[in-house]
Amino acid sequence: MNHESSTSLENLLAEDRRFPPAPEFVAQANAGPEMSSWAAADRPAFWAEQARQLLTWSTPFTETLDWSGAPVARWFADGRLNACYNAVDRHVEAGRGDRTALIFEGEPGDGRTLTYAELQIEVSRAANALLEIGVRTGDRVAIYLPMITEAVVAMLACARIGAVHSVVFGGFSAEALRSRIEDAQAVAVITADGGHRRGSAAALKPAVDEALAGGGASVRHVLVVRRTGQEVAWTEGRDVWWHEALEQASERHEPVQVEAEHPLFILYTSGTTGKPKGILHTTGGYLTQTAFTHLNVFDLKPETDVYWCTADVGWVTGHSYVVYGPMLNGATQVIYEGTPDTPDKGRWWEIVAKHGVTILYTAPTAIRTCMKWGEDVPGRYDLSSLRLLGSVGEPINPEAWTWYRRVIGGDRTPVVDTWWQTETGAIMISPLPGVTTAKPGSAQTPLPGIAADVVDEEAHPVENGSGGYLVITEPWPSMLRGIWGDPQRFADTYWSRFPGIYFAGDGAKKDEDGDIWLLGRVDDVMNISGHRLSTAEIESSLVAHPMVAEAAVVGASDTTTGQAVVAFVILRAEYLDQVDQEGEGADVAATLRAHVTKQIGPIAKPRTILVVTELPKTRSGKIMRRLLRDVAEHRKVGDVTTLADSSVMDLIATGLDKPT
Ligand code: WTA
Repeated sequence: MNHESSTSLENLLAEDRRFPPAPEFVAQANAGPEMSSWAAADRPAFWAEQARQLLTWSTPFTETLDWSGAPVARWFADGRLNACYNAVDRHVEAGRGDRTALIFEGEPGDGRTLTYAELQIEVSRAANALLEIGVRTGDRVAIYLPMITEAVVAMLACARIGAVHSVVFGGFSAEALRSRIEDAQAVAVITADGGHRRGSAAALKPAVDEALAGGGASVRHVLVVRRTGQEVAWTEGRDVWWHEALEQASERHEPVQVEAEHPLFILYTSGTTGKPKGILHTTGGYLTQTAFTHLNVFDLKPETDVYWCTADVGWVTGHSYVVYGPMLNGATQVIYEGTPDTPDKGRWWEIVAKHGVTILYTAPTAIRTCMKWGEDVPGRYDLSSLRLLGSVGEPINPEAWTWYRRVIGGDRTPVVDTWWQTETGAIMISPLPGVTTAKPGSAQTPLPGIAADVVDEEAHPVENGSGGYLVITEPWPSMLRGIWGDPQRFADTYWSRFPGIYFAGDGAKKDEDGDIWLLGRVDDVMNISGHRLSTAEIESSLVAHPMVAEAAVVGASDTTTGQAVVAFVILRAEYLDQVDQEGEGADVAATLRAHVTKQIGPIAKPRTILVVTELPKTRSGKIMRRLLRDVAEHRKVGDVTTLADSSVMDLIATGLDKPT
C-alpha cells in the first residue's frame, strides 16, 4: 500500500463517531434489516423478485441469471421491456400523470416543470423525431447537452425506440466528442446552441461542428436544442432544430419492447490507458438495480419526496440517479443547469428551500467547497425540508461527512456514502438509512444482493482490521456487459487480476466490524472533483504537443477537489532555450494547459506543470509515479532503490525551485 493510503488509513481508523438511525426514521424506512438475509440466502432469486416488483415487463422473464458466458452476464434474458415506458408511460397509465416529474431550474433563474403526462408527450414526440431523421433500434446516438430537461427527454427518447445513447459530458472538448462519436459509430448527435454557465452563455454547437469536420462520418443528422438563443453555424441537410422536429412529430409513439439484454447505453470513462472505455449497459438488469437502490438507499417516498441529485447527465450518476432510478420510481425531482455559485454561493440552498427538497445527493468535492465558503451561507436558508443526504464519487473524509450532516442536514438526517462506479451501473456499497449505524467516512456494507469483499494480492479475503483490494465476487444485475467493441480489454481490465472475480481498481479496508472503508484508486486513474481521469490520457495529450518530449502525470491530494492534476514534462531541446529565457517558463505552462483543455476538456487541465529534465524510471522503463506524487505533495521522497538512476530525484527536486 502506498504512503498516501496508509496515512489516510490511520486518520480513518481514529474516527470513532457513530450515528445510529433515529427511531422515527427506522419506523418509516423502506428497507429493514431482514432484507439482507433474504438476499444473501438466494441472490438471483432476490434480484428476480426486485425485477418483477419494480419493473413492468411486456414479456415476463423465466430465466434469472446466465453466467455461463462469464465475464459477460445475462440477466432476465428471455424477458422483454422498454426503459422509457417504465420510466414514464406506466406512471401515467396508473393515474399518476399529474405528478411532477421534473422541476427544472435554469441558471439565469428561468424554470419549467413537467408532469409525467407532459413528459410522455414530449418523449413520444422526440422518439418520432428521431425516427424521422432515420435513427433505428440498435443505432447509437451521441448526446452533448447542458443539464436541461431536453437532456433527460433525449435519453429517454433513444431508449423508447431501442437506440443506444452515448452521452458525452458538455464540458468535454470537440476532440473528445469526435473520438467518442467515432468509437460508437453514432448516426446522430443531439446538442444545443449552448448552455448557461457562470453567468454567461457557453456555446456547445461549435464543438459538434468541429468534431464532425474532423471525422464522425457516421453522423447523418444533428438535432439542435435552442437554449441560449446564441448564433449558430448551420449545415443545411444535416442540422435540424429540435423544437421544429418535435412540433412536427406526432405525440403518440408506441415504445419498442426490447430484450432484457438489449444495449441501453454506452458511457465513456477513463481507464488506465489513454483511450477512454465505452462502458456498455443493457436494459433489464440495469433498470432493476437502479430502481432498487434508488428506492432503498434514498428511502424514496414518491408521493411526498422532492429529490435532487446534483450530477450532470454526462456522468454515470446522472444516468442512474437523475434519469433511470428516480423516474422508474415515479419520483419528483429537481434538475439544475448551472454552477453552485451563480449568481451567488447560496444558489443550491436557495433551490433546496424554494422547492422543499427532501433528499439531496451530491459529491464530497461540492461539500468541501461549501465548507470553505462558510456555514453562514447555507445558514441563511431554510433547509428543514431535507430528510436524507447522499454522497458519491470519491471517499468522503469524516470532517466533510459530519459537516454535511450537521450544517446541511440539521444534525438530524441520515447520510449515505454510496460507493459504485460507471462499470457497476448502480450503488453497490452503502449504509441503508433505516438500518445501518453510520460511521463518517465509510461506505460500510455491500447492499442486499451484492457480494463485495476486500482481498490481498492472492485474492484471499483479508481479516477484519486489514486493507487490500476491493472486489465483487458474484455477478450483479447492473454490471457492465463489456467495453464497446473491445471484449479483450474488458476481460483484461476487470477479470484478469483476480481470475473470475471483478477487480474494481479501488483500495479498501475492513474495520474490526467488517465494514468497508474506501481508500482511493490503486491504478493510474485519478479522481478530480469526483470525476475520473486517467493519467495516461493526459500524458498522451501532453506529448502530442510539439513542445513536449515526455510527460508524467500524477494525481496529488487537494483539499477541495480530492485530487489535482500535476504534470511533469520534459521539453524538447528546441524549446528548452525558450524556458530559460523566460525564467519561470510561464508560457509553457499556459500553452500546455490550453492544449489539454482543447484536447480533453477543462476538467483535465493540470493544476501544476513542472518542467523537469528527467523522469524517475525503473530499470524496465516504467515511470515511478509514486515518487512523483511524493514530490507533488511536498513529501519526503520515498524508496528510490528501484530507480535506474537514483540521482534523477535530486534533479527533479532542484527543478522544483521553478514551478510553473
Ligand atoms: C470512486 C462514480 C469512495 C472510486 C459513481 C470508484 C468512491 C470511482 C465512492 C468510480 C465512494 C465513487 N467512496 N470512492 N462513495 N464513489 N468512488 O466511474 O474510486 O465516475 O472506483 O463512478 O470513484 O468513478 P465513476
